[in-house]
Amino acid sequence: PETGCLSIIVLGASGDLAKKKTFPALFNLYRQGFLLEHEVHIFGYARTKISDDDLRNRIRGYLEKDDSYGISEDLLKFLQLIKYVSGSYDSEEGFRLLDKEISEHELSKNSIEGSSRRLFYLALPPSVYPPVCRMIKQCCMNKSDLGGWTRIVVEKPFGKDLESSETLSSQIGELFEEPQIYRIDHYLGKELVQNMLVLRFANRLFLPLWNRDNIDNVQIVFREDFGTEGRGGYFDEYGIIRDIIQNHLLQVLCLVAMEKPILLKPEHIRDEKVKVLQSVLPIKDEEVVLGQYDGYRDDPTVPDRSNTPTFATVILRIHNERWEGVPFILKAGKALNSRKAEIRVQFKDVPGDIFKCKKQGRNEFVIRLQPSEAIYMKLTVKQPGLEMSTVQSELDLSYGQRYQGVAIPEAYERLILDTIRGDQQHFVRRDELKAAWEIFTPVLHRIDNGEMKPILYKPGSRGPAEADQLLERAGYVQTHGY
Ligand code: BG6
Repeated sequence: PETGCLSIIVLGASGDLAKKKTFPALFNLYRQGFLLEHEVHIFGYARTKISDDDLRNRIRGYLEKDDSYGISEDLLKFLQLIKYVSGSYDSEEGFRLLDKEISEHELSKNSIEGSSRRLFYLALPPSVYPPVCRMIKQCCMNKSDLGGWTRIVVEKPFGKDLESSETLSSQIGELFEEPQIYRIDHYLGKELVQNMLVLRFANRLFLPLWNRDNIDNVQIVFREDFGTEGRGGYFDEYGIIRDIIQNHLLQVLCLVAMEKPILLKPEHIRDEKVKVLQSVLPIKDEEVVLGQYDGYRDDPTVPDRSNTPTFATVILRIHNERWEGVPFILKAGKALNSRKAEIRVQFKDVPGDIFKCKKQGRNEFVIRLQPSEAIYMKLTVKQPGLEMSTVQSELDLSYGQRYQGVAIPEAYERLILDTIRGDQQHFVRRDELKAAWEIFTPVLHRIDNGEMKPILYKPGSRGPAEADQLLERAGYVQTHGY
């Protein structure tokens, strides 16, 4: 790993994302020894005029609420690494000041061998990415003679459709090279998402089965048991497809469906992901069910006549030799009956079913991303006892039991560390992003124009019944007796 002075600059430091995700992740990296006190300095930047201590107290207040962090000496030492600079997002003045602070930090550490590294984390709405990137380029680039780098981390939503995303990409692309841009999709940082390639390509068991001859359908599901809760204003502009499906679920789909990369290198992996996206056929209207939970429009920041879906089930079809005819069912919803994210790979029926056990269900391989990470395989076995009857049971790898006491890293923690190390494997490349928007833009435009409408569903329910019917039509068989 590289050594030398490291400046992490969190832009939008007074906002929610920084408080809830970025700073906690940085603290976790610090306390595990990945951010060394003698090398690192963290700068918060935002428009709000507050002091260093105000920002530190905000972060401390949030971390202290969570028992897993606790008030510790580590936390107090970590907070001392943070400095705050206030300024606007489109004027040189603030960024010159920021650059001065960073340079002072670098000078004070110039006894350290190595290069100086500047990591800019944009915890900001995408509308300000272009001016902020321009300002960074004009005022804050790493100037060290000893090498080093300047990297930019951006969060989704990267645009609202193909056109706006391409505009944003070109604006940023004129200022920074692709290896400097880290587009975060935090689902790629989740432990079980990262396990996908290992499961698929390091187990002989799955290699011959992972195709249209054996797999009937694949579901990638995201459910939340709470609504938009104070984020209605943001959410209403985007809706569930842009918020979850076009990015998080589609990224997971790529890992489930892609071919084996030549090597485990970021470019090889991303090349294979792009090929999957480019093989997705246009979405059919009859393979989309949209929903909106009753009460969503009661949020004062949501327009009374909002047409925004808070639930969607969409079937994607991949036109290639491995997957022709296999529906990939992407389902996401807010205010449902449970909080869960999982991948369910359902196998076809056994031909020549001598046990007549078809009704009990099929083999299913399930990867539960959260909560309680688990991997399990549903199998038909003999019911223990004197009779020759069958029952569905499972081979179960529950992480809580199998890896007791092993802390599973937070997605953001891992991804920030990757950024420092310069590993883009788990970040979205520009052509991937474009291909992802190409898939969803036509449907999104039809929803925006009011041509497709969400069905009302009860909060706390499974979502519209029409979604379950679509699943059945796609061939999904609910497992019974297990
Ligand atoms: C975010 C979405 O990207 O992911 C939120 O904007 C959603 O709407 C969140 O709640 C879910 O993330 P996680 O890691 O809790 O599944």
